[in-house]
Amino acid sequence: MRSLEEVLKDGIRDIPDYPQAGVVFKDITPLLADHTGFTQVIDALAATGKDDDGNPVVDKVVGIEARGFILAAPVALALGAGFVPVRKKGKLPAATYEESYALEYGEATIEVHQDAFQPGDRVLVIDDVLATGGTVEACLKLVRRCGAEVLGTTVLIELSFLPGRERLAGEQLTALVTV
Ligand code: PRP
Repeated sequence: MRSLEEVLKDGIRDIPDYPQAGVVFKDITPLLADHTGFTQVIDALAATGKDDDGNPVVDKVVGIEARGFILAAPVALALGAGFVPVRKKGKLPAATYEESYALEYGEATIEVHQDAFQPGDRVLVIDDVLATGGTVEACLKLVRRCGAEVLGTTVLIELSFLPGRERLAGEQLTALVTV
């Protein structure tokens, strides 16, 4: 069996100048197409929602649109937890809370359903990439505004040349790979 490190190295490719000049996009589609590798990655992400004895400790897993959904939904199933989508503005049908933030490129607003959580739900947030940290920061605000408790945030890839980790100082943050 390949190590998680090898799986990540094989499955994540750099696309220069996408979506704009000067940005190197981390493309995870080769990883998603690799059943064994994808399974290992989901297991590794799900491990961050378990205690030292391997028992799940989360009630809900939050995925951030769009690539976060692909990872968070199988993690939720693996943990026996519910899945909550945090979506870009205008996509959720019921009453929402919203937060705006600046991205590495551009600006965005994300939303969550006001009734997505039970009070005190323990929440794991999952996303593919941590860049400036704006998306995760906004997401954590949304989760807390709903009365839920954030246990931690786990990302597949942390871009260490951007100040995401500094921005999330004080938060429980795990990355499977840091580049
Ligand atoms: C990307 C990525 C993260 C976010 C990270 O999302 O999936 O959610 O940017 O950036 P930040 O740390 O600077 O906030 P994008 O908006 O490109 O959406 P996508 O998943 O729909 O492609």
